[in-house]
Amino acid sequence: MEYKVKDIGLAKQGKLEIEWAEMRMPVLMRIRERFEKEKPLKGIKIAACLHVTKETAVLVRTLIAGGAEVALAPSNPLSTQDSVAAALALEGVHVFAWRGMSVKEYYEAIGNALRYDPDITMDDGADLITTLHELYKGTTSENVEIALKTAGHIPDITKVKGGTEETTTGVNRIKAMEMEGVLKYPVIAVNNAYTKYLFDNRYGTGQSTIDGILRATNILLAGKVAVVAGYGWCGRGIAMRLKGMGARVIVTEVNPLRALEAVMDGFEVMPMKEAARIGDIFITATGNINVIRKEHLELMKDGAILANAGHFNVEISIPDLKALSVNERKIRPNVTEYRLKNGKRLYLLAEGRLVNLAAAEGHPSEVMDLSFSNQALSVEYLVKRGKELKPRVYRVPEEIDMEVARLKLDSMGIRIDELTEEQRKYLKSWMLGT
Ligand code: ADE
Repeated sequence: MEYKVKDIGLAKQGKLEIEWAEMRMPVLMRIRERFEKEKPLKGIKIAACLHVTKETAVLVRTLIAGGAEVALAPSNPLSTQDSVAAALALEGVHVFAWRGMSVKEYYEAIGNALRYDPDITMDDGADLITTLHELYKGTTSENVEIALKTAGHIPDITKVKGGTEETTTGVNRIKAMEMEGVLKYPVIAVNNAYTKYLFDNRYGTGQSTIDGILRATNILLAGKVAVVAGYGWCGRGIAMRLKGMGARVIVTEVNPLRALEAVMDGFEVMPMKEAARIGDIFITATGNINVIRKEHLELMKDGAILANAGHFNVEISIPDLKALSVNERKIRPNVTEYRLKNGKRLYLLAEGRLVNLAAAEGHPSEVMDLSFSNQALSVEYLVKRGKELKPRVYRVPEEIDMEVARLKLDSMGIRIDELTEEQRKYLKSWMLGT
């Protein structure tokens, strides 16, 4: 048994946390029951790079029930729930994760997960798959060398049947690999399933981002001017929930369609340079780099709060924040104060890492039920069909997406109508008009 966690003594609490999540993930539990009987993943090695949370544990247990062996690295240095990592370690998962690991330790964890020569890779942000491809290419960057040293060998990429990717940022990176012609095996973009992004990105990020901000700060949102950068599905969810809590919400965007949608959803839209002067709290959810930078930070009000909900800690320029500051101090867990040369104080939450996972517990189990059911069924699909697929980025098959929605409704006790025969015919006909 091989693992590296903060404290194996936390396993008892971790088990209780996982039990709490399992009660709220009925679709994944149904999939687990079937996996237990059919063993569709028998003999399959899975290397996963996911946030190590109680919900991820429910997924990992499901994959193991299907016959898989799982090695697990975290997908962010600050998102691991240490009790959950300990519980998984005792259950035979090769887990290399603890909250607060350094970047070097993070790439060692990825190297450790790759050491098992996976048949399937699972990513949230694409750090595992990109590292594997760089190892294969022989790239010599510091992080790749750390991973190689830990793995001890270059894993056989030709053995990999396929991969899955959980999040928008990761899908963007894998699509870039596909465009450059370097992608070596098929990847299913779980993020792009309807039962993923319409729910996890919108309602999951919407709620958990506010949860993270409130746990870190305990501020009153009612009456605050909140600036949301990015009106993708995550930004929409965040803006919607902030509005519901009484904040006055401003949206910033670079995409005219999304900006127009934000306007018609009732939000103020303006450039960040204008919003910077009036915001009390800023939340980035763009997937892009340096969205809040020197020119904005200099204009902000004394006391403004900065939080990031995007995958990487690059959306708020921390180098700019540091360069503008004369003093930096930790005020309370997940709150760092930067005193600027102009005398104003800005407060950065969770070191600019995703605030929902670093300062809270990530998305609630009920919504991860949808995302991780797509993950489990996509892995099963890749095991069956991966070798027939070209090294491209694929959508989650529609039958899987619909099945997940159907099972979720069923678990909620909600029934829906069925088309009548007449309606079915009508939808296929073109002769009947006014
Ligand atoms: N991403 C967002 N929330 C999450 C959670 N609760 N578990 C795993 N990954 C997540």
